[in-house]
Amino acid sequence: MNKDRTLRPRRSCLAVPGSSARFLEKAQSVPADQVFLDLEDSVAPLAKPAARDSVAEALNQGDWTDKIRVIRVNDLSTEWTYRDVITVVEQAGENLDCIMLPKVQSAAEIQWLDFLLTQIEKANGLEVGRIGIEAQIEDAKGLTHVDAIAAASPRTETIIFGPADFMASINMRSLVVGEQPPGYESDAYHHILMSILMAARANGLQAIDGPYGRVRDSDGYRRTAERSAALGFDGKWVLHPDQLDIANAVYAPSQSDYDRAELILDAYAFYTSHDGGAVGAVMLDDEMIDEASRKMALVVAAQGRAAGLSRTLAFTPPVR
Ligand code: GLV
Ligand code: MG
Repeated sequence: MNKDRTLRPRRSCLAVPGSSARFLEKAQSVPADQVFLDLEDSVAPLAKPAARDSVAEALNQGDWTDKIRVIRVNDLSTEWTYRDVITVVEQAGENLDCIMLPKVQSAAEIQWLDFLLTQIEKANGLEVGRIGIEAQIEDAKGLTHVDAIAAASPRTETIIFGPADFMASINMRSLVVGEQPPGYESDAYHHILMSILMAARANGLQAIDGPYGRVRDSDGYRRTAERSAALGFDGKWVLHPDQLDIANAVYAPSQSDYDRAELILDAYAFYTSHDGGAVGAVMLDDEMIDEASRKMALVVAAQGRAAGLSRTLAFTPPVR
């Protein structure tokens, strides 16, 4: 269970190919909550060794102020993973917040990464346990083990849906990454998203939606983002700067929801106090609020504050 890590908001998680000097430079100036410098699928096998050094250099030399700095290493079925981790953490461990492990199928893979990180941290004088882990769920095996994966290490911060690999692995009939397959009326991803969300929440982690491939289709991106945001997901991958503002807006509460949440918190604090009559359930406008309403309001208020929203409504205690 992740009790000790403070999880910063990750409404937008920008994918940056680790082999592209231009993108590594450009990514520093965009308003993404998180950037992940990729060593996996966006880097060709022959380019992987050089990409490790480029990514480490970008982490050390770049200005990533206010961004969560992540690298995605290759998955554990390849021959590249251990060297990805060792090279980048030894060179740039102080300037790295998390390692994203793709195609995770078992808790043992997360434990392997935890042990390896601990050794590298000890050997290099880095703070042990500071670097977090993000786990991508990308196939049926990973999904059936998602609860154990989410509970495998206190380093873990997020569980991420990887639609492209997932669609391929279950033979889903669509070639558009993250889009609904034609011929099925309901949401084809509902079970997958909810399983990831439950595993994340049961372990105090964030749930992150994956990419949407049609980068010029802003409406399609917004539609898929709104679906997972409505379920409770914390953020979504961004493949193109045009998707950034949409993610930042969709995964933050609306102004009216934020105002209402702050109002509920103030009203509940007042009514449960001595001056307010010490009552536990009370009407606020036309809605009854109680302790459960306070908990829901806490979540929305925290998201709104993290997104930089300001209150436009104040609670006024009734005159008695
Ligand atoms: C991301 O890695 C995906 O497979 O969608
Ligand atoms: Mg993938």
